Amino acid sequence: MRLSFPLFPEQASTLASKVDSLYFFSLAISAFFSVLIALVIFAFFIKFRRRRAGEVGAPIHGSLMLELVWSIIPFIIAMSLFVWGAIVYFDIVTVPGNATEYFATGKQWMWKFQHPEGQREINVLHIPVGETIKLKMTSEDVIHSFYIPAFRVKQDVLPGRYTTIWFEATKPGTYHLFCAEYCGSEHSLMGGSVVVMEPDEYQAWLDDAGPVASPEEIGAALFDQYICSTCHETDDSGRGPSLHGIYGKEARLADGRTVMRDDDYLRESILRPATHIVNGYPQIMPTFQGQINEVGVLQLISYIKSLGDSETPAAAAGDEAVAASNSVGTEE
Ligand code: CUA
Repeated sequence: MRLSFPLFPEQASTLASKVDSLYFFSLAISAFFSVLIALVIFAFFIKFRRRRAGEVGAPIHGSLMLELVWSIIPFIIAMSLFVWGAIVYFDIVTVPGNATEYFATGKQWMWKFQHPEGQREINVLHIPVGETIKLKMTSEDVIHSFYIPAFRVKQDVLPGRYTTIWFEATKPGTYHLFCAEYCGSEHSLMGGSVVVMEPDEYQAWLDDAGPVASPEEIGAALFDQYICSTCHETDDSGRGPSLHGIYGKEARLADGRTVMRDDDYLRESILRPATHIVNGYPQIMPTFQGQINEVGVLQLISYIKSLGDSETPAAAAGDEAVAASNSVGTEE
């Protein structure tokens, strides 16, 4: 692997060896059959060559055994690739429950990150080794794709919705980070690095930046700045519904539909409020499209997520979404 022109990226995440094993398995199968077919073609050239002028091949009567063999063996190989591939795919798309959430925003032509503690970075992401990290990603403009070859993870980043990616780095070091979707004239420059650090070094790096406001705190400040609280009060007596304890719960809309109030719902409600009108409330909310950028929306959502069910404690029983209390930064 220590070639000056490496053919293969380093394996630096828990997913890397799983992806590589599957890759090498399919490569081995392809190589085995390519060589086998080439050899058989060559052997048949010789064995079945025309020996006399006017010679005609013997008639073929078929062979059940042969047909069963060349159907069943490829079936087993194809199904094992499919099942193995599905298992690895589910590992990649299923975010472990203990993951720490970071934000990533793509913008022509840079990657912006925000740590759960509040630190922000552009094109460089510092993370601790051995910790499960989930990136909640969106784009300010066009489609980008977040790609870390050493971690074997790649995910499109789309304007107008959230996508996620997760990884757990297994060794400290600096790894390439790319945009893997053509996104304009400076696409090739849209990249940077992921710096994986020992946990104590990472802590020291966080401390170096001094005290920073967390996404929840910035979200709370935005909530005040845009005077959201004039309509969204702590109980349902306001002109709009209360936002306390709503995250992860269903809402009935004026048109009779029931929707889950998740990240995408909250984002849509801030930028295009007319899409979902909660039953019993008038459509009076102005749009904040063009006033708040995607990072601001993520911070507002963090703040709304952190709002406990403080006004109606009885309703909180048995609902774990509400377990996240008012205290900043304790959820997840
Ligand atoms: Cu962003 Cu290519």
